[in-house]
Amino acid sequence: MTSESAATPAIDQRQTFDDPRMTFTLETRDLTIRFGGHVAVNSVSCTFRPGELTAIVGPNGAGKTTYFNLISGQLRPTEGSILLDGADITQLSFQLTNLFPNLSVEENVRLAVQSESGVHYDMLRPWMTRRDLIARADAILDKVALGNRRSVPATALSHGDQRKLEVALMMALEPKVFMFDEPTAGMSIDEVPVVLNLIAQLKQDASKIILLVEHKMDVVRSLADRIIVLHNGQLVADGKPAEVIASPIVQEAYLGIAPGKSAA
Ligand SMILES: Nc1ncnc2c1ncn2[C@@H]1O[C@H](COP(=O)(O)OP(=O)(O)OP(=O)(O)O)[C@@H](O)[C@H]1O
Ligand SMILES: [Mg+2]
Repeated sequence: MTSESAATPAIDQRQTFDDPRMTFTLETRDLTIRFGGHVAVNSVSCTFRPGELTAIVGPNGAGKTTYFNLISGQLRPTEGSILLDGADITQLSFQLTNLFPNLSVEENVRLAVQSESGVHYDMLRPWMTRRDLIARADAILDKVALGNRRSVPATALSHGDQRKLEVALMMALEPKVFMFDEPTAGMSIDEVPVVLNLIAQLKQDASKIILLVEHKMDVVRSLADRIIVLHNGQLVADGKPAEVIASPIVQEAYLGIAPGKSAA
């Protein structure tokens, strides 16, 4: 029986994972939050799919970060729901990995890998051996280009390297959904491409949903498969990057051109 079950699961898995786009969705339905009288996110309904990087754009105070915090479960909506693969997760929080400032970069990543292996693998297969764990942590450190900083305490990293470490910890959890809120904010000019390359690399894995809040339109243009626009907490545009960028609402919000009027 053991040998039989060991020989067959690949077929089931192939059926399940053949088309990653079909495996799951993340959906917000009429998602709303009020702070006092102010509606920061106003009945936003949107569905996100694997293999798609969605950029969320909009003016300052539009509700982008609040929308993120609702999705991750750090804020509870006043109304509406969040569904992962059809299941209501409105009351759950996505697991966030702790960063331990006094531990080294390497120790932080190993701990994250270990916690992931403990959560998901114990029922399915034996615990990861220590060697597997170290190898996986090393692979992640290489991916985020922190191999040469592995012995440094997290607290001693530059701003850009701390962001890379956060991405590494996120990768260790193998989440279905990656969310980046202005990942390059405050970075020096030479740190920016490293983080953008990382996100581009994550995109290669078509089983992930990636959400990115970003003000810089050149970054949005180069990474996004889809753009949604929030304005006063409402979803006002959703579509392919070229179409959305050309839309009056984006032209107005980013270029100060009122709809129906020319720039001159
Ligand atoms: N905890 C809170 N209590 C009260 N008001 C809040 C709270 N969090 C956000 N807001 C308000 O909700 C609105 C949306 O804020 P949010 O931070 O989501 O905007 P944003 O689109 O991320 O803006 P930015 O581009 O500046 O980051 C703002 O008017 C903000 O002042
Ligand atoms: Mg914000």
